[in-house]
Amino acid sequence: MGMLRTLRSVVRLRRSELDRTARRLRGAANLDDLRRLAKKRLPGGVFDYIDGGAEDELTLDRNVRSFREAEFRPRVLRDMGAVDTSSMLLGRPLAFPFVTAPTGFPRIADPEGELAVVRAAARAGVPFTLSTMGTRSIEECAEVAPEGARLWFQVYTWRDRSLVQEMVERSAAAGYEALVLTVDTAVLGRRERDVRRGFTLPPEIGPGTFLDGMLHPGWTWRFLRSEPIRFSNVVGSSVGDGSDAVSLAEYMTTQFDPGLSWRDVEWLQSIWDGPIVLKGIQTVADARLAADAGVAAIALSNHGGRQLDGAPAPFDLLPEVVDAVGHRLEVICDGGVRRGSDVVKACALGAAAVMAGRAHLYALGAAGERGVDHMLEFMQAGTARTMALCGAATVADLDPTLVRLPSR
Ligand code: FNR
Ligand code: LAC
Repeated sequence: MGMLRTLRSVVRLRRSELDRTARRLRGAANLDDLRRLAKKRLPGGVFDYIDGGAEDELTLDRNVRSFREAEFRPRVLRDMGAVDTSSMLLGRPLAFPFVTAPTGFPRIADPEGELAVVRAAARAGVPFTLSTMGTRSIEECAEVAPEGARLWFQVYTWRDRSLVQEMVERSAAAGYEALVLTVDTAVLGRRERDVRRGFTLPPEIGPGTFLDGMLHPGWTWRFLRSEPIRFSNVVGSSVGDGSDAVSLAEYMTTQFDPGLSWRDVEWLQSIWDGPIVLKGIQTVADARLAADAGVAAIALSNHGGRQLDGAPAPFDLLPEVVDAVGHRLEVICDGGVRRGSDVVKACALGAAAVMAGRAHLYALGAAGERGVDHMLEFMQAGTARTMALCGAATVADLDPTLVRLPSR
């Protein structure tokens, strides 16, 4: 009898938690709302690690602003009875031109971490990218991915190249489709919000963060109750797996190789059969070198404004880069995407797809897996609506005449 009563109250508790999440999400009309919810639910240090950028955050700001400043030139009377947002990327279909960007340590936003994002991305029909600095392993992500899900693995180059090779082999064995080599992180950018707080990964509940933890009891409870956060792809290896909290800058300096060069791109091609995406290209000159190297795609990216402050916004680079190399490889636009209309603007200027990072992290922080579903539905619905209002029934109908850029 007692058991039954306990079970009933657990079910009731779970149900009321789900109701609360649903209510919270009903009121989240856009990504800004999800960001605000995440800010309320996450400790300040965790939120700032996700939300912040390098130095004066000029590039972070510019990434978002560049989309806002572009204006549509919508066409009308074009029969928008059926709008189709589906498209192709790396030779395979996706439900709309969107990829979840690799982000380190998602479990700080929600205990499920990457698993929630893998499942939500698969439901939405878009590729998911796991970071080398993931908090779920290559294999754990593959295990929860339903048949047909598209998984990409993002490579950071460890000084110890055998670790990279091992991860590449594990990705191949687990059925990952593509590698994303991040090339904008010779050293870690200076994220001054993290510097100020002495933020570590995993986050520490110590004397300095005690009050922050008390003010966010839900997060603290989930954090303390779930298994410890580890750098899951290197658990047990000598490079340090997060068992001891570290500053990210220190970790990256000691573990990742600033000597990365085009020779390493060649090396990666020699050990991986599938497509490679170079993420962090920021000039036409490097886009041409990427095409010469024969990679399948580049992601124009400044790492969401977290690396070089003063770097150009990817959206601003699109026209010249697409013009120079668009016939030789696919161009992905990464950074600053906050709505479906941004997806449409990027595709109109020749992007094959966009990538977004903070979008799924805000969503996770706001409401876990359902939050990520909500965000992806918001992005796809916004893409479809904007296409209809611009007079483009298919992604192939998106072209530069639909967008006017501010004159600079
Ligand atoms: C990132 N990003 C990133 N990129 C990468 O290649 N490997 C990584 O581990 C991470 N980690 C990471 C953590 C957090 C908290 C953020 C916000 C971003 C960069 C990410 O892939 C992407 O380039 C940006 O997030 C794009 O900008 P938006 O969409 O956040 O504006
Ligand atoms: C970051 C690293 C993990 O941007 O890429 O924080």
